[in-house]
Amino acid sequence: MTRPAVGAALAPRPSCGSRHGGELFGRGASAAPTPARLALLGTGNVGSAVLERLQRLGDRFELVHVANTRQASGDFDAAGIVIDATASEAVAERHAEWLARGVHVVTACKLGQGGPLRRWRAIRDAAAAGGARYGDSATVGAGLPLLRTIRALRAGGDRIHGIAGVLSGSLAWLFDAYDGTRPFAACVRQAQAAGYTEPDPRDDLSGEDVRRKLLILARAAGFELESDAVRVESLAGASDDALRDRLAAARASGGRLAFVARLQDGVASARLEVLPPDDPLATGRGTDNRVALWSDRYAAQPLVIQGPGAGAAITAAALLDDAIAVSTR
Ligand SMILES: NC(=O)c1ccc[n+]([C@@H]2O[C@H](COP(=O)([O-])OP(=O)(O)OC[C@H]3O[C@@H](n4cnc5c(N)ncnc54)[C@H](OP(=O)(O)O)[C@@H]3O)[C@@H](O)[C@H]2O)c1
Repeated sequence: MTRPAVGAALAPRPSCGSRHGGELFGRGASAAPTPARLALLGTGNVGSAVLERLQRLGDRFELVHVANTRQASGDFDAAGIVIDATASEAVAERHAEWLARGVHVVTACKLGQGGPLRRWRAIRDAAAAGGARYGDSATVGAGLPLLRTIRALRAGGDRIHGIAGVLSGSLAWLFDAYDGTRPFAACVRQAQAAGYTEPDPRDDLSGEDVRRKLLILARAAGFELESDAVRVESLAGASDDALRDRLAAARASGGRLAFVARLQDGVASARLEVLPPDDPLATGRGTDNRVALWSDRYAAQPLVIQGPGAGAAITAAALLDDAIAVSTR
């Protein structure tokens, strides 16, 4: 994807006219709603896809600020919604402050809620105290209805008993693509080129990305875990021989390899597992995320949510869906 320069992104866009194509429908003439003012932080894979998708949304949003690490344009203080499309600790550290100031925050970055518990609590408290909302559906499952389902179950009186999931689109893709005929590292390079990996693929291979996602889900489910409470197996140093052996063992048992995150009775872990063919997590393909949820009403059979869980375009769509939601409620 060609990435627009930051300055070009803020150049006046040709007017798309009213969303009714210049005609008046229904209950008569009413003033066009004021566009919500956006600041976009990050113009990489996801940020560029946000810029592209904004073109489809006509006059709903006005982009008042765009920044990456090299340049910034426009007036950040004019924004009513900040979109965080970075992987920056420094940006995540400011989420709570912006919420406290009444600025909505919509994020693809997991470092806000999947980082230190202190930061997660600060974001939760700031969102609860003020008039600003936090849009996080792009952080886990790239917009799949995971967090909103957990929250809806809890709001409906359920306790969450357990969560098991293939939460990394890039690791899902890698273990779908890896057949032992070429080095695992070659598959990693292909995933990176396709934009499936984290900005630094070591975040995927070390399991850190999955740790953060499991923390986000667990905390939403009512388990306020510290980051180090998740036991994580790192694949960063795994040799090709070792991975080929594990693949062969999985196939010999009729199963398949998957990097699985689990939360059971408040105990959290993430590691490479052999899933039997009838496991609810064994069915996905490509970058599919698969998550099984057990709760009071789903005690015997889990609720299973599955779908593509990585990629700049769907992540950008999830961010802008959240931006629409926070600006219209
Ligand atoms: N790719 C996916 O499928 C996917 C899915 C779900 C969530 N996410 C999350 O989305 C975020 C972005 O991912 P990506 O793949 O787009 O990463 P990326 O291509 O590396 O882009 C990151 C962008 O953030 C900018 N940036 C870093 N620190 C900044 C700061 N302090 N202020 C302003 N801009 C800053 C970078 O600036 P420079 O251009 O100057 O380096 C770059 O433009 C990550 O948190 C990732 O975990 C990605």
